[in-house]
Amino acid sequence: MSYNLLAGKKGIIFGALNEQSIAWRVAERAVEEGAEIILTNTAVAVRMGQLNELGEKLGAKVVPADATKEEELEVVFQEAIKTFGKVDFVLHSIGMSPNVRKGRSYDDLDYKMLQTTLDISAVSFHKMLQVAKRLDAIAEGGSVVALTYIAAQRTFVGYGDMADAKSLLESIARSFGYIYGREKGVRINTVSQSPTVTTAGSGVKGMSDLLDFAEDLSPLGNADANDCADYCITLFSDLTRKITMQNLFNDGGFSSMGMSLDAIEVFSKGRDAHK
Ligand SMILES: NC(=O)c1ccc[n+]([C@@H]2O[C@H](COP(=O)([O-])OP(=O)(O)OC[C@H]3O[C@@H](n4cnc5c(N)ncnc54)[C@H](O)[C@@H]3O)[C@@H](O)[C@H]2O)c1
Repeated sequence: MSYNLLAGKKGIIFGALNEQSIAWRVAERAVEEGAEIILTNTAVAVRMGQLNELGEKLGAKVVPADATKEEELEVVFQEAIKTFGKVDFVLHSIGMSPNVRKGRSYDDLDYKMLQTTLDISAVSFHKMLQVAKRLDAIAEGGSVVALTYIAAQRTFVGYGDMADAKSLLESIARSFGYIYGREKGVRINTVSQSPTVTTAGSGVKGMSDLLDFAEDLSPLGNADANDCADYCITLFSDLTRKITMQNLFNDGGFSSMGMSLDAIEVFSKGRDAHK
């Protein structure tokens, strides 16, 4: 169902790889709500994934870019300026850790890989904002959202150095949010999403148990990619004009829970079985 929340708005969506990607759903919802968008991902992802199909379906240009390279980000924003004038919203939905992929534990990190994790999953956000601001590519009142995870605040086994990347990502949202808000009226927020079944999500060790755990602990259950897309749409819309520099949980209540009835029943049964 469309509420026309983004009628006339233009945006850039980073990070749709396949139908499971959260960014894929955000792109579909944005267009449903009346926006015109540009889609972007790495050249390899564009070649190997299904982004071109999505572009055709949504009538969106696809511009390949590695988000760790300023000159490639510049191409994306220049293309957006050429196509739309300025843009009203940007989604950063990018994450990858070679340490997590290779199963390296947090006390056995490869530091070159850590650099890559931080560069792709966090510093790319700063680069994106810095390039956008330099080119004055985001309209007054525009909205930028990056996706994050609660491992930025609490320890989750298996999330490894992505936890550090997410902490940095959220910090960038605050630090840049102050400057971009003050100078250009642009708001910047992070959405902290429930565990979600996607390509990046399945790289995390014990993902299926984590999904069950979060589902049992959250009074509303896990938020899925569609729920995340809906939330992002509200943040891109004019209904959230004064919200900036926030880390916003879209997690069915997980972040405020200690122990739930469901979780304690599962835990005590499992514990009895081990006695
Ligand atoms: N899936 C989850 O459980 C979950 C939970 C909370 C937050 N998130 C976050 O949501 C975001 C999207 O992840 P997803 O779960 O939809 O998985 P996904 O694998 O579909 O998306 C990750 C994207 O990052 C892109 N990417 C990797 N390196 C890049 C680079 N150098 N330049 C540009 N793009 C690059 C990939 O091509 C891919 O499209 C990530 O930031 C992730 O950490 C995911």
